[in-house]
Amino acid sequence: MEIHDKYDLSFFDVTGNCNLRCPFCINDWSTISGNTHVNERTLENVLKLLPLLNSFYLSCYFEPTIHPDFESIIKAIPVEHSKKVLFTTNLSRKLTDGVIEALSNSGFNYINVSLDSLNPEVFEKMRKGARFDVFYDNLRRLTEAFSVNHGAPPLRYITMLNRHNIDEIPELIENCASNYLSTMNELRTIVPMAHIDKGWIKENDITDERRAALWERLFNFPHKWMFVDYGKRTEYDEFFDSLEDPGEKMIYFVPPFIGLRISSEGIAQLSHMGIESRYDINKMDDPYGVFKEILALHSLDVERARELKKNHEEKLKIIEEKNEIITDKNTAISIRDTSIANLTIEREALTNDKYNLAAEMATIKATYFYMLSQNDTKGIWRSFRHSVGKLLFKNNSALKSSIKKFLHLGK
Ligand SMILES: C[S@@+](CC[C@H](N)C(=O)[O-])C[C@H]1O[C@@H](n2cnc3c(N)ncnc32)[C@H](O)[C@@H]1O
Ligand code: SF4
Repeated sequence: MEIHDKYDLSFFDVTGNCNLRCPFCINDWSTISGNTHVNERTLENVLKLLPLLNSFYLSCYFEPTIHPDFESIIKAIPVEHSKKVLFTTNLSRKLTDGVIEALSNSGFNYINVSLDSLNPEVFEKMRKGARFDVFYDNLRRLTEAFSVNHGAPPLRYITMLNRHNIDEIPELIENCASNYLSTMNELRTIVPMAHIDKGWIKENDITDERRAALWERLFNFPHKWMFVDYGKRTEYDEFFDSLEDPGEKMIYFVPPFIGLRISSEGIAQLSHMGIESRYDINKMDDPYGVFKEILALHSLDVERARELKKNHEEKLKIIEEKNEIITDKNTAISIRDTSIANLTIEREALTNDKYNLAAEMATIKATYFYMLSQNDTKGIWRSFRHSVGKLLFKNNSALKSSIKKFLHLGK
């Protein structure tokens, strides 16, 4: 049995809101109001979990730089765990020099900067509420500070592919690599969440041809880039959809990773367990102990799900094999049925022919006997007539002709 001694991924958010309202945002802003900036005590409790985590998103769903104490939060990460830490930012709230310096010395694994375009007009269209000059000033100061510090975290850039920036992508990647310390450009499709305006998605969609043309150009590109396609449905989506319908409900799910999502209020959810798993970290005296215990239970869950899946797949395989045999037999039966049907038709045709022939034969026979009988009568009559004639009309030809005339006879 594989023992999980760590959560693979942990998504924490130091804030619960954002300074922007991007039209494609994964968050449904109509359901989110107010904001809780993580407080010192909650942060302390969350950071106690670090030994149990393989990687730790300091911020994922919201915007971390709007936290008034972001600098202190960065500095609060124990150095022995800093290599697990990463986060994503829109870089559109003016960063203080203190935050830039703290980030530069943080030892974090890497930092993602969302950058959809270096064209101010396209940028501001995508990042609703942002000002390109503020973003650009942050980018310039951040990269200047990082470029003179060998230990500064690597920078990655995330770009939401869309109709307005697709032609700019090769140049954007080149620019990020040459001027803004990019170690990776991530190109993403948009997760088509139900709350995102369908009209906007349609208007910003890219044709497969344009995307293919882009891959063609990027194929031999010297800079690192990757494409993440969120358009595809995963086993994860299918599992959660299946829970909606009791008839379709799947009994197992092997998560791609064991993960935690922790809100800025300190509410933790187990990423593969869905809805009902909510734990308030603030109420725990020993968050490390509690989540270690939960991890052990997770491991059992995952192991059991794996067994069920294996069993299920084996049964499915047997059912498929049986189905193949049944199909072969059905084909053989249908071939035989066709040939029986054909033979029956042939037999009926032959039987009909036989009866027709017999009937014809009977007619022929009857005609033949009739003819025979006719011939015989004629013969008897003829010889009778001959003998009587001979007897009566010998040497009396006048009598013979008058009687013949009377009787309407020939010779
Ligand atoms: C949810 S945001 C939070 C961090 C920060 N506010 C930002 O935008 O950079 C994290 C990343 O997800 C991207 N993102 C937002 N909505 C998305 C969607 N519907 N599909 C895919 N990625 C999305 C953002 O562009 C950003 O790079
Ligand atoms: S900046 Fe990030 S969190 Fe804010 S609205 Fe845009 S995508 Fe959403």
